[in-house]
Amino acid sequence: MAAEPAEQPVTAPVDEAPGPAAPEQDAPPLEPGLMWGIKLAFLRYIFGQSDGRYSVTDGAEVVNGRMIRFVPDPETTFDPATGTGVLKFKGDVRFSAHHGFLFVRIADPWLTVENGAGTLSLAASPGESPDRFPLATINVSPAGPPDGAYVGHNVALTEQGSELFNEVYPPGERFDDLIVLLGSASAAAGGG
Ligand code: HEM
Repeated sequence: MAAEPAEQPVTAPVDEAPGPAAPEQDAPPLEPGLMWGIKLAFLRYIFGQSDGRYSVTDGAEVVNGRMIRFVPDPETTFDPATGTGVLKFKGDVRFSAHHGFLFVRIADPWLTVENGAGTLSLAASPGESPDRFPLATINVSPAGPPDGAYVGHNVALTEQGSELFNEVYPPGERFDDLIVLLGSASAAAGGG
C-alpha cells in the first residue's frame, strides 16, 4: 500500500533546508537610487595602476564596498504605471590613472525609458554643449517585489560611450547590469 504523502519521512532537518539566507543583522537598509558597478574589468584596470585613483561625490557613494549608489534626483519624470519617462540620479564619480592621461567622469546618470528600452546618459564635462551625452543603450525591466525595483540589463556602449573610454571599448561593449530602487521600493523592503 502506498504511503500517504503526509507520512513520508522528512529527509533533511528543517534548519538545513535550502532557502534564502536571513539578512545579516548589520546589513545596511536599502536606500533608493541607482546602484551600479560600472564595469568590473575597468575597475580592476584602474586599481591595478600604481597611481589609479577615484572620487565619489555630489550624491554618489560606495555601498557594500563594490557598488556605487547615485541618489534620486527629485526631477525624475518616470511613471511606474507606464514604465516610461526619465529616471534621474545625481552623483559624480571620477577615475584617474597614468599620471592624468586617463580621466573618466561618470556623473548624474539618467535612464530615458520607453516600453522597457532606452538610453543611459551622463552629464557632459562642465561648460560642454550639449550638456549630456548617451553612454549606453539599455533595457529596463521591473525586478520586484518590491514594487519600484528595476534591473537595467543589456547595457551596451554607444559611440560616445566608446570615446569616453578612449575607444578601448568599442561601441556595443557590455557594461555591468544595474539596479534602480524608487523611494517606495526602499520603504517596502524595510528601509523606512
Ligand atoms: C599613458 C596612457 C595609457 C597607458 C600606458 C595605457 C595602458 C594600457 C594597457 C597596457 C592596457 C591593457 C593591459 C591592462 O589591462 O592593464 C590598457 C587597457 C585599457 N585602457 Fe589604457 N592606457 C593608457 C591610457 C588610457 C586612457 C586615456 C584610457 C581612457 C579611459 C584608457 C582606458 C583603458 C581601458 C578601458 C582598458 C581596458 C581595461 C579592461 O577592460 O581590461 N587607457 N591600457
